[in-house]
Amino acid sequence: MAWITKPSSTTPIEKRDEPYLTASMESKLRDEYLPRYQEKKGALFPALHMIQHEYGWIPAQAMREIANVLEIPASEVMDTVTFYEEYWTHPKGEHLISVCRSIACEFCNATQCTEAVKKRLGIDVGQTTDDNKFTLIELECIGSCGTAPAALIDEDLHENLTPDRLVNLIDQIEQGSYTKGGSGAVKDEH
Ligand code: FES
Repeated sequence: MAWITKPSSTTPIEKRDEPYLTASMESKLRDEYLPRYQEKKGALFPALHMIQHEYGWIPAQAMREIANVLEIPASEVMDTVTFYEEYWTHPKGEHLISVCRSIACEFCNATQCTEAVKKRLGIDVGQTTDDNKFTLIELECIGSCGTAPAALIDEDLHENLTPDRLVNLIDQIEQGSYTKGGSGAVKDEH
């Protein structure tokens, strides 16, 4: 294995005039989250969640803005963001399709599910469609091994999938007939 180093200190940071941490978000962070923690940096996770929930990812500028409020180095914020794969450091599509690739799901044809999505969307794992509507990723075990193969569509868990069912869910999203709520939302298919 080789270590890959990044020139973080010289990498330009894209900036926009408008802050990512809006006034109302900052108030929420100061008034609601900060009082819950002994140290300001305790509020780092909720602050990051707030940004990701709003924008779908966490821009470097937002990391700096959070660092300023929490009075910690921006590098500490970046360390946290890059350590957890749930945090996104670049934009993703409007809908995230996350197929579990761990052993139980792999054993139950998860690979075929992923292949079907790749074919349906014309993208590879880790890519986003040109219209920015879908991003496809693979995840390690999402805790639904008993109903493998499983996948998440945004925050909805879908279990006992087949390639056709997964593609059908994507069709539903495109047609505007997708019902949020996970596997319960597709009961009518059985
Ligand atoms: S292995 Fe896929 S949910 Fe556990």
